[in-house]
Amino acid sequence: MADGRPIGVFDSGVGGIGTLAALMRELPQERFIFYGDTANAPYGTKTREDCMACIERVMAQLLAQDVKAVVIACNTATAVAAAELRARHTLPIIGIEPALKPAHELRHGGSILVLATPMTLRLEKFRALYERYGEGAIPLPCPGLMELVEREAHDEARAYLQQLLSPYDLNAVDAVVLGCTHYVFLRPILAELLPERVKVLDGNAGTARQLRRVLEERGLLAVGPGGVSLHTSGDARVVLPVMRRLLERA
Ligand code: DGL
Repeated sequence: MADGRPIGVFDSGVGGIGTLAALMRELPQERFIFYGDTANAPYGTKTREDCMACIERVMAQLLAQDVKAVVIACNTATAVAAAELRARHTLPIIGIEPALKPAHELRHGGSILVLATPMTLRLEKFRALYERYGEGAIPLPCPGLMELVEREAHDEARAYLQQLLSPYDLNAVDAVVLGCTHYVFLRPILAELLPERVKVLDGNAGTARQLRRVLEERGLLAVGPGGVSLHTSGDARVVLPVMRRLLERA
């Protein structure tokens, strides 16, 4: 039996648009509702409690639209809330986490730089991941970086990354993990700054495959037609054009 209800996808802002693009590629027959909580961004420098309160409001909005599943297109929100939301709701809730495991698998004895928000790197979820796959990994909290992606401030983002990477011998780096969905849009800048052999990893495609698996298992796949609608808690006149541009690019 096909289930034509939409899938809710959310982030603190426009970063999750990259995840959304991966979901649409993997499951073109599904309808997606994307919600960027721009008015309350950033999540990654808030307290855990404040972040949880924002996430609960977003969840309530998505549930009111009768979504059949929710994708948390935000590493920070996943670390803060995924376990609690899954305990509270019966619908599938898919999260995203820094791609440390794939980075670990392709490591050749060099280091792995993990870029993420201060919150993601401080919570137990990342600690547990780090215990298992953290050999050679250097966590780099990036406060203020998501804001530059929101503002499409490319030159400032380049300067930020240049400074962030400057203490490291990049020839001794095997991989860079983009542990925040916003940073995926900085790939072109990173390609300029990093030696060609350094792999840059994110969790978007893995999250899309995971959503497909779960929908298949629960008999929740749709037959189409697919589609997407974009929403923000911020100023729609400013944010929606940015979201559309990024979706096109992704
Ligand atoms: N895009 C979010 C993430 O993946 C976080 C950005 C923020 O709100 O600080 O972690």
